[in-house]
Amino acid sequence: MLVLGIESSCDETGMALYSTAAGGGLLAHALHSQVRMHQEYGGVVPELASRDHIRRVVPLLRQVLADSGRSLAAIDAVAYTQGPGLAGALLVGAAFAEALATALEVPSVPVHHLEGHLLSPLLSPRPPRFPFVALLVSGGHSQLMRVIGVGQYELMGETLDDAAGEAFDKTAKLLGLDYPGGPALAALAEAGRPDVVKLPRPMLKSGDLNFSFSGLKTAVLTRVRELAPISEQQRADIARAFQDAIVEVLVSKSLRAVAMSGLKQLVVAGGVGANAELRRQLDAHAGRARIAVFYPEFEFCTDNGAMIALAGALRLQAGQSGKPAGAFAVRPRWPLTCS
Ligand code: KG4
Ligand code: ZN
Repeated sequence: MLVLGIESSCDETGMALYSTAAGGGLLAHALHSQVRMHQEYGGVVPELASRDHIRRVVPLLRQVLADSGRSLAAIDAVAYTQGPGLAGALLVGAAFAEALATALEVPSVPVHHLEGHLLSPLLSPRPPRFPFVALLVSGGHSQLMRVIGVGQYELMGETLDDAAGEAFDKTAKLLGLDYPGGPALAALAEAGRPDVVKLPRPMLKSGDLNFSFSGLKTAVLTRVRELAPISEQQRADIARAFQDAIVEVLVSKSLRAVAMSGLKQLVVAGGVGANAELRRQLDAHAGRARIAVFYPEFEFCTDNGAMIALAGALRLQAGQSGKPAGAFAVRPRWPLTCS
């Protein structure tokens, strides 16, 4: 079975072809990032995002067909991100996918964006096996999930306010860094000295698996104001302190979730999963607790079409039939635990 996957929930247009045949797997994937377009506005402009997705879908489809050497007629199903995300951006991918599936007379498979992230480590050469615990940390979500199998997800804990990526982005802005702030803040933190600036560890001792990151951002704002005019070294020290605080909370709660689940595998997914310090700390602590940690390949940490093609293919393989192509709706807000 050859599944086309389309991602358009935010500021990346992703397209991929995944084959479930023996020796298949991910045959081709292509991505267009809108980061440069949104940069001058300091964040994603939804209307511009939608218009750009429209420009990109056809060339990206042509590219994955050419790269894989497959024809349009060989596609057996079209998977696409149905939500959550920006309504207009989702509509572009959904309309394109449903139109294509209708023309090809194949089923369509609406996919939950976070399910794509959760399953993305399965694209690695050394994938985890079900069941596992997943730490899902993206721009819009921070959740700990127990993943029993495809479509079987139990929420163990989540953020009560800002998502981890959102906290990175907002704090980066306070420090005068460009959107998207996560990677920029991580780079600045490299020059920061440990423990020079003290920041709180929100909810570290809350006894549950929930997070709260908005207070951390406020604490950074207070430090920036106290230190004004701030030197380059002080900015780096604050970035370091922020990253250390958020990483410590994420590592501690993830390990607790794994211990509570009785499982031995932790999967890290979503954009913040690309953070090198998070990976260093998780590897060090999990190693001591004999927990195996799995990350998606770097290119599949942030939004991409490969994870959507994979999620669609796994759903079809698990016996789900897809839906007849045609009528559709997007779901800008959609909890993963709600089918
Ligand atoms: O999963 P993703 O690409 O999109 C969403 O579904 O939200 O995640 C994007 C988020 C952004 O907030 C971005 O700043 C953050 O992931 N991010 C990082 C890093 N790379 C991306 N945060 C910290 N360190 C990084 N290296
Ligand atoms: Zn995402």
